[in-house]
Parts: sequence; C-alpha cells; structure tokens
Amino acid sequence: MLLPGLKPTAMSDKNTLPLAGQVALITGSESGIGRETARAFCRLGAAVVLNGRQAERLEATRQALAAEGYRVAACLADVTDYTACEGLVATALAHFGRLDILIANASISQRAYFADMQPAVFRQVLDSNVYGAVYPLKAALPHLLAAQGSVTFISSISALNGMPSGSAYCAGKAALANLAHTLRLELAGTGVHFGVVHIGFTQNDPDKRVLDAAGRPVPIAHRSPRWQKSQAEVAAIILSHVRRRRRRTVISALGRFILVVHSLLPRLGDWVVLTSQRRMRNFYE
Ligand SMILES: NC(=O)c1ccc[n+]([C@@H]2O[C@H](COP(=O)([O-])OP(=O)(O)OC[C@H]3O[C@@H](n4cnc5c(N)ncnc54)[C@H](OP(=O)(O)O)[C@@H]3O)[C@@H](O)[C@H]2O)c1
Repeated sequence: MLLPGLKPTAMSDKNTLPLAGQVALITGSESGIGRETARAFCRLGAAVVLNGRQAERLEATRQALAAEGYRVAACLADVTDYTACEGLVATALAHFGRLDILIANASISQRAYFADMQPAVFRQVLDSNVYGAVYPLKAALPHLLAAQGSVTFISSISALNGMPSGSAYCAGKAALANLAHTLRLELAGTGVHFGVVHIGFTQNDPDKRVLDAAGRPVPIAHRSPRWQKSQAEVAAIILSHVRRRRRRTVISALGRFILVVHSLLPRLGDWVVLTSQRRMRNFYE
C-alpha cells in the first residue's frame, strides 16, 4: 500500500538506499534535533515513527516529511508514560511491520539552581531524561532483539562533568551512559547495539523552552552562535553513530576537551567551570 505523501516514482530508487527496509522510532522528533535526525534517516531510506506531545506541531512535522516523499508515521505520546510507549511501538508495527532502530531523544532541560528548585520540577526533568528513555526501550526491546537492532540514547556534553543550574538534567543524561553500558553487558551476544551520543551546543528552534525552578517554561540561557552546530550537522553525526554502531560519540571540540579534563585533571575542569560561572552568568541563569 502506498503511504500518504510517498512519491511513487521515488519508490524504486528508495529500495537501493542504505537504510531501505529499516524502521526507526525517534522520540521527541516533532521539533529540533529529533526532527532533523528523522529527516536524515528518511533520506537514507528508513521509515520513521515521529513522536512528540504537541498534536499540531507533530502533525506539521509529519506532513512536511511526507511531502518530501518520506515514509513517516506519527504517534502522540508522553514517553514518561509506559502505556503510551507501548502505543509508540504499536504504531511502528502497524505502519511498517517491524522496528530496527530506537533513538531516545525526547528530553526536558532546565535553567534553575538546585537550591531553588521545587522537588516536583527536579523529578519532571529527571523523569523525562531517564524514564523517557527507559520506557520506550522497554516497550521496544522484543522487536529490537528480533531485528538485532540499534538503540541510541541522546545525552549531552554537560553530563560529562556536570553543570551549575543543570542538576536534574545532567544527572539524568549521565545515567543514560551507565544504562547503555549495563545493557551492553546484560545483552551481549544478542546483536543489539547500545550507544550514547553526547551532544554539544546546537542551534535551537526559536520556540524551544526549558523549565525554571518553579516549573515554568522559559527560553534557554544564552549560547554564543559561534559555539553552536546546526541541527542538520548534529543529525548527520547521530546517523553516522548509528550506522557505525558506535558505543559513544562526543560531539564538538569542547565536548572532547571536557571528557579529557574531567578524566585526567578534574580540579582544573572545576576551576574552568567556576571561573566561567563568575564571568558569564547569563550562560547559566
Ligand atoms: N540543543 C542543544 O544545544 C542540546 C545540547 C545537548 C543535548 N541536547 C539533547 O538533544 C536532544 C534534542 O534537543 P533539542 O535541542 O532538539 O530540544 P527540543 O527542540 O526541545 O526537542 C525535544 C523534544 O522532546 C519532546 N519531549 C520532551 N519531553 C517529552 C515527553 N515526555 N514525551 C514526548 N516528547 C517529549 C519535546 O516536546 P515538548 O515540546 O512537548 O516538550 C520536543 O519536541 C535532547 O535530548 C537534548 O537534551 C541538545
């Protein structure tokens, strides 16, 4: 059956693309990096299940990708709700008959110091980053095992050392690296790939919001455009990470600097952070 928006003339070419026949579920793909990652996977022939929590934005993204001739389906789901995650997997099976790739990308970030944060806000941020990855994986695992598929957790370079005003976000993102490692050991020999991508500063959609200490959505803190990669560049790196079945990818020179300094010279790393915190308050607050 021809899916809505699929150009029939493109069909035969699509069968020869490297990811033809593969099905990817990308959480939080109605916007931002997730949306560009979906486009990158589609471009190589994968069918993609899109996800988000905002019906209109999700449908706009689905329509845009379908209009480009790509095989996409959409599922409105909060990934911190396990039953909703079962619905995500059911969408992949109903539309495309299989599931090969999971990219756990959905996340809420914060702009708040721990001392000021409402406990429920800390939990909301942590849950979105931890259970928002665990629940889709738990629901998808039988199908990923059958396909000897691939799982990628999207983390952040801020999880490599921790960052003031990012306590719950950094803790959640750091947990994903340990989770991936443990699953790699538990499921060794199954053929399933578990990887983590630590993303650095990336251009954001203008309407991107994070939570303040009281849980109100606020714009993200200032980031110099000079330090930011485009969403398309980051999506290409995620795509390459999955295709090469890499364990860990750390994006940007700053990310690799943090990794080395945190491992070899942790006190120097803390000095750099504390100095920048004094001199660049708008970076954190
Ligand atoms: N942009 C950067 O500089 C940067 C740096 C490091 C790491 N990252 C990571 O890269 C990933 C993508 O970030 P982004 O910049 O593209 O952010 P974004 O534009 O805010 O995208 C995140 C998406 O996840 C969705 N989402 C959040 N919680 C969800 C939930 N419980 N269930 C379903 N969907 C949910 C959001 O939808 P709602 O609008 O409904 O919340 C949004 O569509 C995230 O994991 C982020 O932590 C980004």
